[in-house]
Amino acid sequence: MTVNGKSVSGDVEGRTLLAEFLREGLKMTGTHIGCDTSQCGACVVHMNGEAVKSCSVLALDAEGAEVMTIEGMANPDGSLSVIQQAFQDHHGLQCGFCTPGMVMSAAALLKDNPKPTEREIREYLEGNICRCTGYHNIVKAIMAASGQDVGAIAAE
Ligand code: FES
Ligand code: FES
Repeated sequence: MTVNGKSVSGDVEGRTLLAEFLREGLKMTGTHIGCDTSQCGACVVHMNGEAVKSCSVLALDAEGAEVMTIEGMANPDGSLSVIQQAFQDHHGLQCGFCTPGMVMSAAALLKDNPKPTEREIREYLEGNICRCTGYHNIVKAIMAASGQDVGAIAAE
């Protein structure tokens, strides 16, 4: 498969999950595993341009796919992407455990819907859990990353 534009390969068992292959096979630990029930979204990556929970995809099923992980989100010069910068600017993270998945989900959302409403952002993030409950600033960060005013976001 291709991960962040680089061709990679490895031997895996039939049961190996994409999340495990990324973390243990490729030592790319930016993709987190926060549950074993496919609920938390910490493991979200893009596969062939779509956001997927990499704990729910067998590595074998990603054979030949184009995978993008959080390690591939920064700009080529190493600076933060617009979304990452917005998370930093708007305090969209606390412990940071959910952040890779949140950023990957946000990127997928903004690709399909460049100016989402607050409600659309909240609905899209239904599959991403922040155990620090930092949702308000995460929503703010995504609004800001889409170039929208964040002043009107209701405090929750
Ligand atoms: S680790 Fe994939 S959804 Fe929780
Ligand atoms: S910032 Fe801690 S889990 Fe979201």
